[in-house]
Amino acid sequence: MNILVLGDVVGSSGVKAIKEKLPKIIKEKKIDFVIVNGENAADSGVGITKKNTEDFFSAGTDVITSGNHIWDEKETMKFITEEKRLLRPQNLIKPSPGEGFGIFESKSNKKRVAVVNLMGNIFMKKCEDVFKEAKKFIENIRLKKDADFIVVDMHGEITSEKMAMGYLFDGKVTMVVGTHTHVPTSDHRIMEKGTAYITDLGMCGDYNSVIGMDRDNSLKRFFNDPSGKRHYPATGEVTICGLIVNADEKTGLANKVEPIILGKSLQERF
Ligand SMILES: [Fe+2]
Repeated sequence: MNILVLGDVVGSSGVKAIKEKLPKIIKEKKIDFVIVNGENAADSGVGITKKNTEDFFSAGTDVITSGNHIWDEKETMKFITEEKRLLRPQNLIKPSPGEGFGIFESKSNKKRVAVVNLMGNIFMKKCEDVFKEAKKFIENIRLKKDADFIVVDMHGEITSEKMAMGYLFDGKVTMVVGTHTHVPTSDHRIMEKGTAYITDLGMCGDYNSVIGMDRDNSLKRFFNDPSGKRHYPATGEVTICGLIVNADEKTGLANKVEPIILGKSLQERF
């Protein structure tokens, strides 16, 4: 079973790259299940529209995760109640529309894949304690009993929270991937008890930018230059970043981890 998770897709150029390149990645890497973090997919670089979700699904995505920008497009609060394949963080302050996890069926081989979306406690929107929520989740959803594979998207700013989450879930889920910082880390590995882990997948966006946003405008804002505008996405060539995990059908744990970086701005790994 090959599971691909792609990092935060930024703006219209990011969405366009997913539409163009994801089908090729699925075919070449023999991917059975695709998860995309889509919370920056809107044209503004924050939030996700219904049209964005349709574009991701038609390109081959099975589930879309999100994070702190989930409600930045007004329409999302409405359509998320009908679109179960779009997840918001599980630990949002209750009550919140939509779901933070789901169990989905892979199209190619009919396996049950549980996906949970968590959001860190530090430097993020106010939310329920992520560690308590994660513990509750893992007590209720058991690998091989409730699902054949379990994927955790830990959306957070802080590397330590993400690493700690890796250990909390080690041996109990297929993979823990970090999202949100838009910078890929190179610490992908299989942890001691068999869970695949990476601190951050990086983004699917233009890396000649400040985390996906126009770099000149970002600099103006850092200098408090009054001509600086609201952040807007950079629109140059997109580099797609993510992680492929080959998971064992018997144990649900990871056999192999392979980062993918597709695009010219970073050193390619494909
Ligand atoms: Fe985020």
